[in-house]
Amino acid sequence: MIRFTTASPQSKSIPTSRVLFAFEGEEGFANLTGSAASKVRKEIAKDGFKGRESEGTWVTPQGLPGTERALVVGLGSREKCRTESYRRAGGRAARIALASRQARLAVAWPDRGLKGVVSEIAQAFAEGLLLGSYRYTRYKTRPEDKVPPMESVVFLASAGTVGQVRKALDTASLYVEGVWMARDLINGAPSDVTPKVLVDNARLIAKANKGVTLKVFGKKELQKMGAGGLLGVNRGSAEEPYLIHLHYKPQGTPKKSVALVGKGITFDSGGLSLKPAGSMETMKMDMSGAAAVLGTFLNIAALAPKVEVHGVIATTENMPGGRAYKPGDVLTALNGKTMEVLNTDAEGRLVLADALTYAERQKPDAMIDMATLTGACVIALGALVAGLLTNDAALAERIKAAAESEGEPLWEMPLVAEYRADIRSKVADIKNIGGNREAGTIIGGLFLQEFVEKTPWVHLDIAGPAWLDRDFPACPHLLPGGTGFMIRSLLAFLRGF
Ligand code: BES
Ligand code: MN
Ligand code: ZN
Repeated sequence: MIRFTTASPQSKSIPTSRVLFAFEGEEGFANLTGSAASKVRKEIAKDGFKGRESEGTWVTPQGLPGTERALVVGLGSREKCRTESYRRAGGRAARIALASRQARLAVAWPDRGLKGVVSEIAQAFAEGLLLGSYRYTRYKTRPEDKVPPMESVVFLASAGTVGQVRKALDTASLYVEGVWMARDLINGAPSDVTPKVLVDNARLIAKANKGVTLKVFGKKELQKMGAGGLLGVNRGSAEEPYLIHLHYKPQGTPKKSVALVGKGITFDSGGLSLKPAGSMETMKMDMSGAAAVLGTFLNIAALAPKVEVHGVIATTENMPGGRAYKPGDVLTALNGKTMEVLNTDAEGRLVLADALTYAERQKPDAMIDMATLTGACVIALGALVAGLLTNDAALAERIKAAAESEGEPLWEMPLVAEYRADIRSKVADIKNIGGNREAGTIIGGLFLQEFVEKTPWVHLDIAGPAWLDRDFPACPHLLPGGTGFMIRSLLAFLRGF
């Protein structure tokens, strides 16, 4: 992580590299005015810098007081600038600083001149700095590849503003620490991040957070319980499956409770309905829903939402071993419903069936599941947008609002009741695939809905945004690999619930 500090604008001993905020089409800077500003403007204009969103560059101006060089980041036009613009500016600043091995930065946070609410935009900018300076180096051995994150960033703010800035920096750090943990788990090799490792991480979280308790159900307990979906998917794997239940209770008497449910397939080979080699390359990311639950819980006690939170994870590998479940098999889910398996690669819905039943038995007021459920969702919405399907419009609105504030786009798809006929089974209560390739994401949602009885519920198909296979220049706070999608949004949601 980066150490964030604050100091007074008059402070003398500050790093000599400063961040400057530029709006497109404006002469000065939000945090630098006067003749120094026009000098810098002239300098950067030579490189074609306009102050557009996500743009950034170093500049070495003459006569900038106390400053050797400045890192100028764009916020776009003042008219279009939004909270996300600050997050992207932070991401760009971090990327540029890291590329030039600049370990320390100073940011003058002006009382006026920026657009937006201080607590929101300072948090977003700090999130961007943290998100953009993440690097995954676990398997790198050459010292030059072990890039350390930035050391520290000092925010210079007046007495009237510094309190809000300090709070925003703390919130950003607590949020993004969870994101970093999730990214580490997603990026880890699938033979290193097994279901057991997810359990170990849940243990650490429970130990570190006051008010968080943990229950773990292994194979024996799952058999006793009757979790036939999770056990069925697990049969081809040499690793033990687990149902993980984290439980956070805030101080005082909570009025509401929320259950977060995560798909934790630590590797999805497809099982006997084996995936082609290319499609399997990234299937270590199939536990991103579980990682989102763990990341949300990492600092939950410090963030102290006033709502009770259950985190439920169903985790196993999906492998084609000799005892593997087979197309044609019928599994009995935890709620007693029978599921005909016609494609062992539609495994997520089978393990989530049990996890949703378990979660609903905790009697939450709302359930949110996160799953890298369908390739169809990636085709429909691409790499940056998750699908949202729900039985409760009001709950969906609250989640959409939180995700909007954190810049994590969700797009609703309908649970078309008429398509339910496509997963009718001849031999069991339901089958795990439709009859054709139509509406794959909706079919997945309709299947899950069979395991939600009456609780307001949102299903998030995060197959696209959980993992990026390339860089998006417009989103410098995101990096190729695991993203830790939804953690910041869930925390914002829980704190507002
Ligand atoms: N984990 C995959 C979905 C996936 C695909 C996530 C690509 C991220 C990127 C899931 O288990 C799966 O294999 N789904 C099948 C369902 C089909 C067999 C009905 C799919 O999408 O092809
Ligand atoms: Mn699959
Ligand atoms: Zn899967």
